[in-house]
Amino acid sequence: MTVVALSGLRGGVGTTSMVAALGFALHGLQQRVLMIDLHPRNLLRLHCNLALDATRGWATAEQDAEGRWSEALFEVVEGLYLLPFGRLEVGALNEQAQEWTQRLQQLQAHFDWILLDMPAILPGGQPGGPALPEPVTRIRVLEADAACHALLSTEGAGDDFLLVNRFDPISQLQRDLLLLWGERQGKLIPQVIHRDEAMACALAWKSPVGYYAPDSLASHDVRSLATWLLAQGAQG
Ligand SMILES: Nc1ncnc2c1ncn2[C@@H]1O[C@H](COP(=O)(O)OP(=O)(O)OP(=O)(O)O)[C@@H](O)[C@H]1O
Ligand SMILES: [Mg+2]
Repeated sequence: MTVVALSGLRGGVGTTSMVAALGFALHGLQQRVLMIDLHPRNLLRLHCNLALDATRGWATAEQDAEGRWSEALFEVVEGLYLLPFGRLEVGALNEQAQEWTQRLQQLQAHFDWILLDMPAILPGGQPGGPALPEPVTRIRVLEADAACHALLSTEGAGDDFLLVNRFDPISQLQRDLLLLWGERQGKLIPQVIHRDEAMACALAWKSPVGYYAPDSLASHDVRSLATWLLAQGAQG
């Protein structure tokens, strides 16, 4: 089993959309996949056709007297599962609920891939979500824009892989930044995800982009990314 934690270099770069799209693409490659929402905003569920007012999730299940986090598991399609965060009152998450080492151990026998949707990195490069056990493949999602470039230059990305989302080849700035990062950043993933209206529409359709528009450019990009990740696993 491989655990992949995706977090944005900053907010709004498409991390949650990427978790849903990648989960669907890996499932299409006959992998058993679990997507876990570790972001208190609880939005990953909306990429899996759950209701807007659905409140159930691992964090809410933990609060029931007899509740178990694993009871919130939701089968999207056979072999593809989602564990939503759930809707909590502000500040209700206890410290124990942040403990993911044991939970991931319990899950590992059942899945080939566990994808974690993490909140964006905090100022100073601090993780925005819970501490995670090793080994975890960490991917930082970013956009080829000046803000991300400034953050990369000042805070770096540690040992994380970098995944460029919403790439627009018409933009000279984006092309230049991609070239520069290719020279300077040893862990830039050699597959970008293009800016694609299908990606935005997929969320409006409450599904991963590979389901909503399998022939779209973004779908092709994400399938290549999934294949690249599988090859990385094979090397590891
Ligand atoms: N490649 C893309 N092309 C076009 N639109 C995209 C692309 N990727 C993501 N989006 C859109 O960008 C918006 C933000 O995406 P998303 O919610 O996944 O970001 P996020 O990084 O998870 O945000 P947050 O930091 O708040 O968790 C959504 O409307 C999504 O559909
Ligand atoms: Mg998100």
